[in-house]
Formats: sequence, structure tokens, C-alpha cells
Amino acid sequence: MDPSCHACKFWVNSGTCPKGAACQYEHPQRHNLISARQRWVSERQQERQKIAQKEGNPHVHDSASRHARASIFSKWLVERFGRELLRKGPVLDVAGGPRGEVAFELEQLGISSDSAPCGNAQAPADVQSMRLVNQPDEGTAGQRHEAADCQENHRLQRHIQAEFGPAFWADGSSHSQLVKQCSLVIGLHPDEATEAIVDCALAHAKPFAVVPCCVFPRLFPDRKLVEDNGSTRPVVRHDELVRYLTAKADGHNDYLKFQGRNLVVSSALSGN
Ligand SMILES: C[S@@+](CC[C@H](N)C(=O)[O-])C[C@H]1O[C@@H](n2cnc3c(N)ncnc32)[C@H](O)[C@@H]1O
Repeated sequence: MDPSCHACKFWVNSGTCPKGAACQYEHPQRHNLISARQRWVSERQQERQKIAQKEGNPHVHDSASRHARASIFSKWLVERFGRELLRKGPVLDVAGGPRGEVAFELEQLGISSDSAPCGNAQAPADVQSMRLVNQPDEGTAGQRHEAADCQENHRLQRHIQAEFGPAFWADGSSHSQLVKQCSLVIGLHPDEATEAIVDCALAHAKPFAVVPCCVFPRLFPDRKLVEDNGSTRPVVRHDELVRYLTAKADGHNDYLKFQGRNLVVSSALSGN
């Protein structure tokens, strides 16, 4: 198909394009921009549905909005692991986002969690903030107020600033006790921390659940998939990352009922 028939993705999303006049795609002007944007979104949705169908995602047509993902993931965690296990210690929610939505949803379900919300998706991975729901002596007054407002039991939230990686859970680190005590390690779309969640869980024989989103093949060139004939190839696509993590942890796959990246890799392995 002639690419000039398509609108430029930068242009329809931001009204600008780094290539300017040299861009081979269309730059629709004001009166056509809204319809071009709607067409672009609808085409992307159809494309994603086709891929999801091909991959065997059973929730292509009956999934909830992506905004419900924290709630759906939290309920799934309770079903998958059971309240008894989840109450053995705090849930370590890595890269939980600025609002710590999974931590909040788990609290609503009566499960305490330690979450690692992030400033924003563009933030460098060296300094991140983490949230502990059940530790009253930490957090700002605003966070304490917010937590008290929304939780009947008035448990409080604490944020930790740290990159989640081997140094976080190494013996003797200031967070090693937290990792040892936690009941479960989780991450919903945790970007660069995705594999670290699996590594941390394996290192401590903890159950885990991670919903991968971005792959970052250039950042992680050493991830390899072994083919049936013994040859290897780098992990580049999302489905390859899921296969790679599943094989690494002898994990299990489930589709969650929300739009977007909804395939969870989990393991119930527990040294508890
Ligand atoms: C796409 S956001 C997802 C946030 C939230 N879980 C959600 O679903 O809305 C992923 C976040 O992970 C954080 N992140 C990436 N690598 C990390 C690391 N090594 N340690 C802690 N956080 C990390 C990033 O800052 C980013 O904001």
C-alpha cells in the first residue's frame, strides 16, 4: 500500500513531525486533523485486535478499559495466589506508577502491599519511588491524609526511592529484609524492571506475577530464546519476552480481561 495514503503518527498525535516537509506520510491540516486522528486510533485498535486474536488472547472483544487494569490485576492476584499466601507478608509491587494503583486496589481487597510507583514512564530507571502501604512512620503528610481518607483501617503508605535491581535485594542491602519478608513480588507494566522482578523472585524462592509491556531489546541484548533446533535469537517482540520470562521461571501464562498488554507471567513457587 502506498505509504503516502497514511497520516504521520507524530503529526496526528502532536501536530508536529521531526521530519517536517521531508516526511513521506500525510500531515493533514486543521480541519482534517480530528478525523485523521480518529481514523489512526481506530486502525491501531484493529491492528492490536488482529494480533491479540492471532496470539490466542481470549479477551479480544470482551475486555475492560485499560484504566481498570490495576483493579483487574489485583482481583486476579487474590484468585491466583489466595488470601492466605498474600497475607504472609506485604506484596512487593515494583514500578507501581505515581498513583500506586495496584497497592490501593490490594488495600481495598484487604491485602497490604509495598509498591514501587514511578514518577513517569520517561523517568530514568536509576531513581524510582516505592511505596509501603503498611508502615505508618513514613510518607508525607499528604500521603498519610490520602491513605487515611480511603482506607477504613487507616494503614499508611511509605515511598522508597530506589532502582529495583540486584542491588535492591542483595544480602545486607537496606531493602533485603523487605524482600525476604514479602509474600509476593509483582509488577504491572513495569518497563525496565520486568525481568528484575522475575530474578528477584527466583533468587528468594518467592511467588511472582508480572504483566510485561515494553521489551527494550537494545537495553537487554543478552536475552536469548532457544529454538527447537538449538539455535538462539534475541528477544525483540513482546510475545518473545513473555516466552523468555516464562521459560526462565518455569512460569504460567494467563490473559487478564483488560485492553492492551494483558498477558501475565506468574509462578506460585514459594519458599515460605
Ligand atoms: C509504564 S509505567 C507503569 C506504572 C504502573 N505499574 C501502571 O501500570 O500504571 C512503568 C514504570 O516502571 C518504572 N521503572 C522502570 N524501571 C524501573 C526500575 N528498575 N526500578 C523501579 N522502577 C522502574 C518506570 O519509571 C516507569 O514509570
